[in-house]
Amino acid sequence: MNVLLLGASGRIGQRIATELLERGHDVTGVSRNGDVEGIDDPGFEAVAGDATDPDSIAALAAGHDAVASALGPGEDEDVDRLSEMATALIDGLRETPVDRFVWTGGAGGLAVDSDTKLIETDEFPDELVALAQAHIDALEIIRDVDDLRWSYLAPPARIEPGERTGEYRTAAGQLVVDDDGESQISMADFAVAFADELETDEAVHTQLGVGY
Ligand SMILES: NC(=O)c1ccc[n+]([C@@H]2O[C@H](COP(=O)([O-])OP(=O)(O)OC[C@H]3O[C@@H](n4cnc5c(N)ncnc54)[C@H](OP(=O)(O)O)[C@@H]3O)[C@@H](O)[C@H]2O)c1
Repeated sequence: MNVLLLGASGRIGQRIATELLERGHDVTGVSRNGDVEGIDDPGFEAVAGDATDPDSIAALAAGHDAVASALGPGEDEDVDRLSEMATALIDGLRETPVDRFVWTGGAGGLAVDSDTKLIETDEFPDELVALAQAHIDALEIIRDVDDLRWSYLAPPARIEPGERTGEYRTAAGQLVVDDDGESQISMADFAVAFADELETDEAVHTQLGVGY
């Protein structure tokens, strides 16, 4: 597969690039300045692009089979940039024959029980509420789309650097929690789940919780 990866210079994006390349896919990795460090593979090309600009997305996506996103607002940026990027991706792809994208979302919009989202729980950290809400807003934009085949992969509550085990579980719309009550995954294993979804299309039009 020939994949356009938005956010390739980010922490999760770099792991997704590595996982896709190890599976033999070709990856065009986008960052704003065109630099993606730490990836040296003949199947990889780093390019510059602006994920808030539909025309930039359309030009970049041409010739690819699918778009992968691990986009996030920069530390000093307005979290509402996420919705801007989701809208630009959707509008940009509509200008191309590319109809498949997989998006890295947030855990806050996942259900912890039949009527509570993670963001609504007492334990949810105050400092993450704005970003989590921005992820939910982006999900609402993506959810309205039925002319593109999208999947929204939501990390668990905690996602950190760590080993690649190849193991993970998924649950549509729900936070994945392990036997010890922890909701977590390594970035490398999240990338495994992400690459599996790109290859299998098993969760099209689905908000999919991922975790151990
Ligand atoms: N538990 C959770 O819910 C959870 C936990 C962790 C992460 N996440 C989410 O997962 C996503 C990825 O996280 P991360 O930690 O890997 O983020 P990150 O390291 O901050 O990476 C963000 C990426 O987005 C790119 N980017 C930002 N604005 C752009 C623009 N206008 N045009 C092109 N590229 C742009 C950055 O590229 P530049 O090099 O151009 O800056 C970078 O590659 C984020 O949305 C984050 O909120 C969720």
